[in-house]
Amino acid sequence: MKPTRILKVTPRKPAIEDIRVAAGFIRKGGLVAFPTETVYGLGADALNAKAVLSLFQAKKRPLDNPPIVHIARTEDIHRLVKTVPSNAEKLIGEFWPGPLTLIFRRSEAVPSITVAGLETIAIRMPRHEVALALVEESHSPIAAPSANLAGKPSPTAAQHVLNDLAGRIDVILDAGETDVGVESTVLDLTTRPAQIMRPGGISFESLKKILPSVQLSSFVTTGTILTSKAARSPGTKHKHYAPKADVFLVEGKLEKVVEKVNELAVSHIGKSRKVGIMCTDETLENYKVGVVKSLGSRKNLEIIAHNLFRCLREFDFENVDVVISESMPKEGIGLAIMDRLRRASDFKTVIAH
Ligand code: TXA
Ligand code: MG
Repeated sequence: MKPTRILKVTPRKPAIEDIRVAAGFIRKGGLVAFPTETVYGLGADALNAKAVLSLFQAKKRPLDNPPIVHIARTEDIHRLVKTVPSNAEKLIGEFWPGPLTLIFRRSEAVPSITVAGLETIAIRMPRHEVALALVEESHSPIAAPSANLAGKPSPTAAQHVLNDLAGRIDVILDAGETDVGVESTVLDLTTRPAQIMRPGGISFESLKKILPSVQLSSFVTTGTILTSKAARSPGTKHKHYAPKADVFLVEGKLEKVVEKVNELAVSHIGKSRKVGIMCTDETLENYKVGVVKSLGSRKNLEIIAHNLFRCLREFDFENVDVVISESMPKEGIGLAIMDRLRRASDFKTVIAH
């Protein structure tokens, strides 16, 4: 166990002294959790192989699942990649800083462990003053997966990081709740056409406006778990976002979904299981059993994304055995919400007829 220091910073104008303390740990090979606009990341110097190894260990993350490398200036990509493909420039101009991660062919400057032995590298420039200042003051790109224990929901507040990683990391920069609530979109630019490996904070629709040929990978569309050899985005083959409870995701027309959620809830309660129901403002009144939590209104999927991981963690606190969740429309950020819900449920989708 090491003492984990918590430094409270303001999100827009963080005190440079605090950022420098945190950057000092990064430069010495330590681990710092920091906020981004999506979720909290757990950072290590991306060019320090030993630091990156300890990053995997602190999270108990499998070594075959590489983190995203965070930069503070566009020009920082050049030392990390072999070439910048022609379609990258417009995307970078439009979406950076922001929740879009791009996959490039990597340069030799990047230690193998940082990319889990792959020939490619995932890079993004986050839209958060604390994250940008930390990268800047560390004088090195920062490798940062989400700051949760492997398999758990990503942290959207410093308290979530503390719950998972207290005593395992050096510093948490606490700037309050994150904004977007789901992680960045991961877009592979090493394939033609470019493919979305993970839907996230930048929607498929807005990417298509800039890059009309962009496609969703088969994992995103079918949810098929790929075998390790075929998996292009290594994260797709590991269990993710799961609270302690078993999660069931109910899909179909909303009124049928409500009926099915109630039916499943009653059935699990009948088997003496404590049941949580994850629903929306529009349907809240329809549930009379179990621990019922609304993610927000269906009219605002951004709010639902913002609340999603916190809500999954709250069910852990309530010690429910089963979480039954409504599904969301797959448009805009809804696609990312559904991706996280499907993975949280380990693809236990129930179709409501
Ligand atoms: O919003 C985010 O992206 C957050 C914040 C902290 O930036 N980070 C994050 O990192 O979600 P992580 O490590 O939890 O997810 C990284 C994803 C994984 O699905 C991983 O498999 C994929 O990016 N990835 C990383 N390197 C890759 C590569 N070279 N090729 C394909 N996928 C890659
Ligand atoms: Mg993660």
